[in-house]
Amino acid sequence: MKRIKDLIANALPGNKNASGLSFEEFRDSAPLRVDGQEWSPEALWFAWSTGTALHLADLPDTFEDEPDADPGPSEWHLAMLRKGVPPRVVRCLEGDYQITPAMNAAKRWTQGTFLCLSGESGVGKSVAAGWLISRGPLGPCPFTQPQGHEQFAYWPHGPRWTRATDLARGFDEIPGEIRRASVLVIDDLGDEKNDEHSRARLSSLLSERDDLQARTVITTNLNAATIKHRYGTRFVDRIKGHGFLTAIRGETMRAR
Ligand SMILES: Nc1ncnc2c1ncn2[C@@H]1O[C@H](COP(=O)(O)OP(=O)(O)OP(=O)(O)O)[C@@H](O)[C@H]1O
Ligand SMILES: [Mg+2]
Repeated sequence: MKRIKDLIANALPGNKNASGLSFEEFRDSAPLRVDGQEWSPEALWFAWSTGTALHLADLPDTFEDEPDADPGPSEWHLAMLRKGVPPRVVRCLEGDYQITPAMNAAKRWTQGTFLCLSGESGVGKSVAAGWLISRGPLGPCPFTQPQGHEQFAYWPHGPRWTRATDLARGFDEIPGEIRRASVLVIDDLGDEKNDEHSRARLSSLLSERDDLQARTVITTNLNAATIKHRYGTRFVDRIKGHGFLTAIRGETMRAR
């Protein structure tokens, strides 16, 4: 480096560059980099000796207070993602969502342990389930007292979104934060493998939550008769006895 500096110094008459500045003058008048840091000595030498501007004319000095700066996802958005709600459902709920038949069924569910939304694909069952997650538990939650203060209160086991396929596979015990979620969504019941193992895992989760009176939302493409045939009479009786099994009709909203 020293050798290069000496060569440059010899080539530039009177130790001044093409703009007539000595290296010291150039260095002292150099602006900070766009990220607010100082330029390295090598970069300063290069710029001084070759006459390269350190300031790009059209580039703002700072990126603060830019009118179009994207503020990024909201706190609410991130909290929903942490609960496992799929991004497309969160985005739909953050926009101007409509009051669909599925949404109405969700709003009417003010008591009972279970809500099963059964219907064709695309009628808005998952979006309605996401809305219920965002409301949190209604009424007393069976899992101890809310912690924290007033509007910052939270339940030790918060609301949770799961998919039937994920619950059904595997041999480990289903984690406590799912079994004891203050509101649990089981999305797409019936999409999981139809075998003894899957049915047993889902049935036992349902009976545990029934015994605890912990609110559980199920979405499914299966109708009541098929659910009964596949999971047995007790499964359907639990849902209907301690909640609602609602058929959601309507056109698919997916194409819009
Ligand atoms: N309340 C709503 N307001 C506006 N758009 C909605 C609403 N509900 C659903 N949609 C639109 O319809 C799409 C499908 O909705 P959703 O995923 O809830 O259907 P689904 O009934 O769960 O279907 P599947 O049985 O295939 O899971 C959403 O991605 C969204 O674009
Ligand atoms: Mg769905």
